[in-house]
Amino acid sequence: MDIRLDGRVALVTGASSGIGHAAALALAEAGAHVGVQGHSHMEEVEALADRIAKLGRRAIAVKADVSDAGDVDRLVRAVVDELGGVDIAFNNAGVFQMATLEATTDDIWNRHLATNVTGAFLCARRVVPEMKKRGKGKLIHTGSIFGAYGVPSAVAYCVTKMAIHGLTRALAIELAPHRINVNAVAPGNVVTPLNDVLYDYLAEQAGSPGDREAGKRALVKSYPVGRLGQVSDVAAAVVYLASDAADFVTGQIMFVDGGYSVA
Ligand SMILES: NC(=O)c1ccc[n+]([C@@H]2O[C@H](COP(=O)([O-])OP(=O)(O)OC[C@H]3O[C@@H](n4cnc5c(N)ncnc54)[C@H](OP(=O)(O)O)[C@@H]3O)[C@@H](O)[C@H]2O)c1
Repeated sequence: MDIRLDGRVALVTGASSGIGHAAALALAEAGAHVGVQGHSHMEEVEALADRIAKLGRRAIAVKADVSDAGDVDRLVRAVVDELGGVDIAFNNAGVFQMATLEATTDDIWNRHLATNVTGAFLCARRVVPEMKKRGKGKLIHTGSIFGAYGVPSAVAYCVTKMAIHGLTRALAIELAPHRINVNAVAPGNVVTPLNDVLYDYLAEQAGSPGDREAGKRALVKSYPVGRLGQVSDVAAAVVYLASDAADFVTGQIMFVDGGYSVA
């Protein structure tokens, strides 16, 4: 089946790199107009908007901190004003910093909660009224395998992704009568800048400090398919969940993890 999103308007947070960047492009390739949000890397987001425009879709790039309600309001208002509404929201922006429990400072803890949880909540709260106006919508969060399994030295991150899975399930029930589907993609390890700290940590554990590729090789052993994830793996799942093909799918945590969660 060829999944098409012609004429739909999508908003993607965390689009300056990694999963958000790939998903924004994939949504546009499927036909959607896309509002792309960045925070500290606006050049990348502006280049992405240009690339989307070259595909013949409308696109805007907006700078926003998703943990700030005023910024989120401005972001959604810009998408509605310039692209005409919101049909699809991929609430994806997030941070990841490794730290043992004792090394998890107030700043690390608060930054994870503010960006990964409050950010997704604020985006959902602001975007859902726009979807209600359209009579339908697709809200997609980025969870994680770390939202289902505990791992060492990542307590703040694990807690935030467990919260995202909870947010997804709770909103799915509340919003079903409004024909708004709420799902999450839960990626396994996907090669993006976010994971450099993890690869460095694993390389050190494997006795090869500084050799990031050694860190990746150590991690691949946990993946039955024999490789780590690529951003395109997650982008494909996002396009499906954003489409009419997923109208009967809500409240799901879709693991995109090469079999990690069933090994
Ligand atoms: N990569 C993985 O293995 C993996 C696995 C499971 C889940 N995830 C989740 O996937 C999502 C995307 O991660 P990624 O791997 O693609 O990482 P990434 O390449 O580092 O992208 C993170 C994005 O989040 C944005 N961001 C960070 N703090 C922000 C804030 N306060 N306000 C607005 N935007 C902010 C960044 O914007 P700027 O760069 O412009 O600041 C960037 O666009 C995250 O939610 C992450 O937890 C990743």
